[in-house]
Amino acid sequence: MRNRRPAIWVGVLSIAATAIGIAIVLAIDWFPTQASSAAGDIDTLYDVLLVVSVPIFVLVMAVVLYSVYAYRVKPGDMSDGAPIHGNTRLEVVWVTIPLIIVTALAGYGWVVLDDIEAKKADTLVVDVTGQQFTWSFEYPGQGKLQSNQLVLPKDRPVHFKVHTKDVLHDFWVPEFRLKTDAVPGITTDIRVTPTRLGSYPVVCAELCGIGHSTMRQTVRVIPADAFDAWVEKQQQGDEDGGVAANGGDKTAAGRQLFTDTGCTACHTLADAGSTATVGPELDDLAAQAAKYSKQNGQTPAEYVKASIESPNAFVVPGFQKDLMPADYAKQLSPAEIDTLVEYLLTVSKGKEAQ
Ligand code: CUA
Repeated sequence: MRNRRPAIWVGVLSIAATAIGIAIVLAIDWFPTQASSAAGDIDTLYDVLLVVSVPIFVLVMAVVLYSVYAYRVKPGDMSDGAPIHGNTRLEVVWVTIPLIIVTALAGYGWVVLDDIEAKKADTLVVDVTGQQFTWSFEYPGQGKLQSNQLVLPKDRPVHFKVHTKDVLHDFWVPEFRLKTDAVPGITTDIRVTPTRLGSYPVVCAELCGIGHSTMRQTVRVIPADAFDAWVEKQQQGDEDGGVAANGGDKTAAGRQLFTDTGCTACHTLADAGSTATVGPELDDLAAQAAKYSKQNGQTPAEYVKASIESPNAFVVPGFQKDLMPADYAKQLSPAEIDTLVEYLLTVSKGKEAQ
């Protein structure tokens, strides 16, 4: 009779490895803060998947390693292996058990997904639009408010309708456990209920071009009454370019617009703390505007305004056409564009002499 000792040892070690593996996957904190109602269920589902995977991984590895050890070729043995034609009982077992496991997990996943996607009363609709390389948001129920900031009231269900103006992007808020592709030509949907106050990153999770890694914004979850106040303030900002909201400080209003609009994703501007190089550097914009506006028969302010509103009409040498979004005239109100133009010319004045 064969010596069964090694097989028994493999069994004991496998059980120990499984126990240790499960302890490790449960001890690791895989996820960021839970900031939506679905986060707890999703994290539990993920933990279950991990726990189920550990014994399967250990079983496969144990069989492989044991076989390599026990059935390795002996020195001088040149004979062929025994001709085997399958083992029906084994095949039925290794098809049936995985089928049961996979079906059960798929059913569990479906239940969780169905719960996330359930329609809820009093839902806030937000249209999300991705474009190289920024996100913009529209609140159709709030007087079609357009914003480059994502602000949400706590504890109110949100229905995101996700679009893209150019290539594939992927709308992702890790703290909400929410992620969906933005696909050209169609609208994708995702629902979430934010349950925790705070600021969380909005990330693009689909490689979409040179500015992909800077395509990041922030979602702010605030109390419901603060949200109503924010909506009102945004509507007023459309009227005065955000100056009143910044205590009358035009430079602060401009800086906020520059940051909130996502200009920082592509342009370097010391005053706003941005260092991206997708588009022209703006620290010497005043000098550049003086030069190019003369060429084009404009004032410097007209030149900057035209560069924001119709960026393809004149492209600074060395940069590519169609890289800058061409719809800021729609995204921003005239007053906001004026604030931005004045801000850019003010903060870049004198910088070129350094
Ligand atoms: Cu948009 Cu990556």
